[in-house]
Amino acid sequence: MNLPAIYRSGFKCSKCNKSFTSKDVFLDLTVTSGIKEYSELKPARTELFRSPLVSFLYERGWRQNFNRSGFPGRDEEFQSVAGGILVDVSCGSGLFSRKFASSGAYSSVIALDFSENMLRQCYDYIKQEETPMNANLALVRADISRLPFASCSIDAIHAGAAIHCWPSPSNAIAEISRVLKPGGVFVATTFLSTPTNSGLFSIDALKPLRQIVGPVNSSYNFFIEGELEDLCRSCGLVNYSSKVQRSFIMFSRQKP
Ligand SMILES: C[S@@+](CC[C@H](N)C(=O)[O-])C[C@H]1O[C@@H](n2cnc3c(N)ncnc32)[C@H](O)[C@@H]1O
Repeated sequence: MNLPAIYRSGFKCSKCNKSFTSKDVFLDLTVTSGIKEYSELKPARTELFRSPLVSFLYERGWRQNFNRSGFPGRDEEFQSVAGGILVDVSCGSGLFSRKFASSGAYSSVIALDFSENMLRQCYDYIKQEETPMNANLALVRADISRLPFASCSIDAIHAGAAIHCWPSPSNAIAEISRVLKPGGVFVATTFLSTPTNSGLFSIDALKPLRQIVGPVNSSYNFFIEGELEDLCRSCGLVNYSSKVQRSFIMFSRQKP
């Protein structure tokens, strides 16, 4: 693919004929791409990251702050998985996408996020670091609940510190399972639910209330480990393994 040309002029789906606009440095593959009148707001945990200020601050202190909850940092969280096509979903400013791309281990790396400003920030870092952008790294705007890839077409999916921000983790993981090839791997990190970050909702009997109050106060969706395992299993993913450090969890799953 000639990515710079696609970024300049957009892209037309050869199956459904829909045209997708390109907004300067990334390809916009959301359903609302190019729409002028209709607008739609996602939950605050998604909208927050669309802000230019949050995107700018993300790798300038915001992300480093996760260490206090047990996140070991970019180098230790980076887990190289089998080669082929890798999608770094909810890539933010691309701290892992850039690392995957420059590792040379993948035929293509797709840095995907819903936030236009995170993708622009990612592009700025790529330019500064001279990551081999045109060769194997594409920037795509898409919603995690509607991945713009054919079923069984992707070798690996990475989701760093993202599940707690997704509007519907079950729709998202079902989509991830759909697009992975048989044998493909899903690796993710997130914050586990603790009394500190989830308050009363970490008590079993009060958990159902999280579904009612959560969307109203727009808090992040934190889960306990068993819930994540259950969710992946119900989406058809197998071979669960995990590593936990305080409220940080890294887990991986495979499509059979
Ligand atoms: C905390 S950041 C994680 C960034 C990076 N992966 C990391 O490891 O630091 C969460 C990211 O999820 C993205 N996100 C939130 N809702 C999303 C959605 N519905 N679809 C795709 N990405 C979404 C945000 O834009 C944001 O960049």
